[in-house]
Amino acid sequence: VSRLSFWHPILPAAQLRAGDVTGVRIAGQGIALFRDKRGQLGAIADRCAHRKMKLSTGHVAQGRIVCPYHGWSYDADGRAHSPANPRFHACVAAFAIREAVGAIWLRAGDGAPPPLIEEPEGGFVVVRNRVAAPIELVIDNFSEVEHTIAMHPQFGFDATRIGEARVEIATTPDSVTVRNSGPAKPLPFAMRIAVALRRRDLFHSDYTLRFDPPRSMVTHRWSDPESGAERRLAYHLIHYFVPEDDAATTILTFGALSLRWPFARAVRRPATALFRRKIVSTIEEDAALLANLADKAVSLDDMRLGRFDAVLPLTRERLYRIYGS
Ligand code: FES
Ligand SMILES: [Fe+2]
Repeated sequence: VSRLSFWHPILPAAQLRAGDVTGVRIAGQGIALFRDKRGQLGAIADRCAHRKMKLSTGHVAQGRIVCPYHGWSYDADGRAHSPANPRFHACVAAFAIREAVGAIWLRAGDGAPPPLIEEPEGGFVVVRNRVAAPIELVIDNFSEVEHTIAMHPQFGFDATRIGEARVEIATTPDSVTVRNSGPAKPLPFAMRIAVALRRRDLFHSDYTLRFDPPRSMVTHRWSDPESGAERRLAYHLIHYFVPEDDAATTILTFGALSLRWPFARAVRRPATALFRRKIVSTIEEDAALLANLADKAVSLDDMRLGRFDAVLPLTRERLYRIYGS
């Protein structure tokens, strides 16, 4: 349960409305989340103390989750009331829960509030994806851009010139930073028109991984190969990797779009909606790849690693030392 002593974002706030109940899983722990009619949030173990029904299949009434099996109800501190046994004292574990920067955050017990992420003007786009792979293999996928020559039609390197791409790694005891730059792949026509990217532009992907809890802070941008001038499009993503258990990982992504364009304000709503869809579909592309791995063992020993993979052992070591294994 020690991984749960870190704050994790687990759900876009808009996905839990007043009166809603839902189930999530973090580090092997099932948690029932609810929001009562007045907007108060609660997070308790997803297992009724009576005969272990999933409380996330219940409903909210008078600020409490009601178990669908025999009607026991629970407050946000996990204290049970049994209509048939009103003098019973029973409870389930309760978790700290907060809403911040457009997401719902959880951790075990009390403690400092969630870390503040600086919010861009207009707020973040917040999306959630799920991947059927352990956190190690998901972080591996999000640590290298070699796969953009085969995957992700909307960004990345030109497959025919990947030999020219540079990768630089810098570390601190608790972080890994990777800077990649190289010839961009030719992008779809509509995208070239909209953001004035050129055929021979350079693509840059820079990111820093941290592990308290595990996350990657990414910037993607394009520049003119001669003058170095930045193109109009750049975006910033923060991916939080939340282990559900040994077989699945939730990714909560906070996205900020930067469009230096004369009409950017006028198209902000449709551009944001498109950006949101692109984040979801891009991560779905990675999820589809990871679902097809021959096995989900996390050891690097039987992999033939290349120059873009030098980051993998660096993140493994920090993940286990800082976040636990
Ligand atoms: S199992 Fe929940 S009330 Fe009986
Ligand atoms: Fe990817």
